[in-house]
Amino acid sequence: RHVSRYSTVVVSNPAPGVTLVSLNRPKSLNALSTPLILDLNAAMKEADTDPSVGAIVITGSEKAFAAGADIKEMQHKSFAEVYENSFIENWSEAKTVKKPILAAVNGYALGGGCELALMADIIYAGEKAVFGQPEIKLGIIPGAGGTQRLTRLIGKSRAMELILTGKTFGAKEALDWGLVSAVFPPEKLVDEAVKTASLIASNARLAVQAAKEAVNLGLQVGLDQGLLYERRLFHSLFATEDQKEGMTAFIEKRAAKFKGK
Ligand code: CAA
Repeated sequence: RHVSRYSTVVVSNPAPGVTLVSLNRPKSLNALSTPLILDLNAAMKEADTDPSVGAIVITGSEKAFAAGADIKEMQHKSFAEVYENSFIENWSEAKTVKKPILAAVNGYALGGGCELALMADIIYAGEKAVFGQPEIKLGIIPGAGGTQRLTRLIGKSRAMELILTGKTFGAKEALDWGLVSAVFPPEKLVDEAVKTASLIASNARLAVQAAKEAVNLGLQVGLDQGLLYERRLFHSLFATEDQKEGMTAFIEKRAAKFKGK
C-alpha cells in the first residue's frame, strides 16, 4: 500500500499491522523541513487511527535517518517569525501518537534527526549510525527535546558534553548508554524493526497502548504517582475482551486471538 499524496515521506505496509514511514528527501539527507514534518505528522496520525495498524516504524535512508531541521529554511528567519509562529512546536505531535513508534536509524541522526529518534518509543540503530546534537555549531541549541530527553536518557555529563561541543557518537556508544536497544547491519535494520513492530502489533492493542502510556507517564512524574497510574491502567484492562481471551487462551494452552477490544 503506497500513499502517494505525501511528497516527502513514503508510507508502506511491509507486514500485517505495521506502517512503515520512510523519510524521503534524499538530496538534503532528509532535513526536516516544515512540509516534511507536516507529511510525517499526517502519516503517523493516519496510522494511529487505522484499526488495522498496531505499530509504526520510522526510518530514513542508509545514508541518513535525518540530518536535522532544514538549515536552508531556518537561515533567514527572525526571532519574531519563529516565536510568533511557534516554529517546530508541531514536531511534538509525535508525542500524541498512541501506538508504539520504532525508529530505525541508519546513517546520520543529527540535531532534529536525533531528537525525532528520541521521540520514538524504541530505537534500533544500524552499525554505521551517527548521532549527535550539533546545533551549537550553528549558533543555536537543540529545540525539539535534545537538551531534555537526551539528558534524561544518557545522564547529565554525557549530554552536556555532546550538546556543548556538538561532537557526534556512534551506534556502539548509543547501545552502551542505553539510548538504543539493539544494533544491526545497515541492510538488516529496517527488517528487524518491522519484525519487532509485527510482534507488538500481534499483542492486545489496548494493553499495548496502556503500557506505552504508563512508561511515558512514569518518565515525567514521581514514583508513587507513576505506580498509581500503572495500577489503574492495569485495573482498567480487566474491562477488555482481550484480557479474557489472553488468560483463557493461556489456560487452554492455545494461542490468543486478540480483537483489540
Ligand atoms: N538542512 C538543510 N540541508 C541539509 C542539512 C540540513 N540540516 N543537512 C544536509 N543538508 C544538505 C546539504 O546542504 C547538501 O545540500 P547541497 O547539495 O545543496 O549542498 C546535502 O544535504 C548533502 O549534504 P553534505 O554535502 O553536507 O553531505 P556530507 O556527506 O558531506 O555531510 C553531514 C553530511 C555531516 C550530515 C552534513 O550534511 C551536516 O553536517 N549537516 C547538518 C547537520 C546539522 O547541523 N544538523 C542540525 C540542524 S539544526 C536543528 O536540527 C535544530 C533543532 O534542534 C530542531
